[in-house]
Amino acid sequence: MSISTEEELLGMKEISEAVATTLKKMREHAKPGMSTKELDEFGGDILKSYGANSAPKVTYDFPGWTCISVNNEVAHGIPTEKTILKEGDLINIDVSAELNGFWSDNGGSFILGEDIQNLQPLVDGSKKILFKAINNIKGGVKLSDIGYIIESEAKKAGFKVIKNLTGHGVGRSLHEEPENILNYRDRFDKKRFRKNSVVAIETFISTRSNNAVELDDGWTLVGDRGGFVTQHEHTIVVTDGKPIILTEGNEIWN
Ligand code: CO
Ligand code: CO
Repeated sequence: MSISTEEELLGMKEISEAVATTLKKMREHAKPGMSTKELDEFGGDILKSYGANSAPKVTYDFPGWTCISVNNEVAHGIPTEKTILKEGDLINIDVSAELNGFWSDNGGSFILGEDIQNLQPLVDGSKKILFKAINNIKGGVKLSDIGYIIESEAKKAGFKVIKNLTGHGVGRSLHEEPENILNYRDRFDKKRFRKNSVVAIETFISTRSNNAVELDDGWTLVGDRGGFVTQHEHTIVVTDGKPIILTEGNEIWN
């Protein structure tokens, strides 16, 4: 969406605070021995306390309030009683929701407790790359220039990017124009970021895989060549200068 009134900005701020706080509290609540279902129910209750509706549930009939992807899962992991969190797990939580007709989206990967799998460099690299990408976005900048930053920074750090998962416009629904804000440079993509538009920027940084493929459950995505993938995502408003980071309350950069 494009923000044209104070009221719209306020609406986006309210739902963004709800999804950001839910993500932050879920990250803090995650403990070894807990099932992803239990963690999801905890998050679902926070969304309800704001009066917010889970976006994946409403939009796609997703079987959970939030997406929780563990270890080799890249995204859209289904919360289940069978998945029990363990020390050192790489966990990604993605929370998106709607409130009063406004939609916001955010996510983040983290390591539970001690870094047994030595994945902290991947997590830290991913956060830094999202930070750099977002801080280079303003009205008039080409989407492909941000894709170039994400891909080249990933390479410099010894990682790859997932090419078929992307950022996207957001605001009046979960996915809007521009539909594919790529994690790499497509030189044929001439689209530019527009001032006042709301976009979800999400980086998918990977140790081995270049693409995500769906498992038989019809939801869970894993890497085509295995390894680990991290995702960090903020919903922002594009301006003439630094973007307004609507979901900064999730503290994924801290
Ligand atoms: Co998103
Ligand atoms: Co998301």
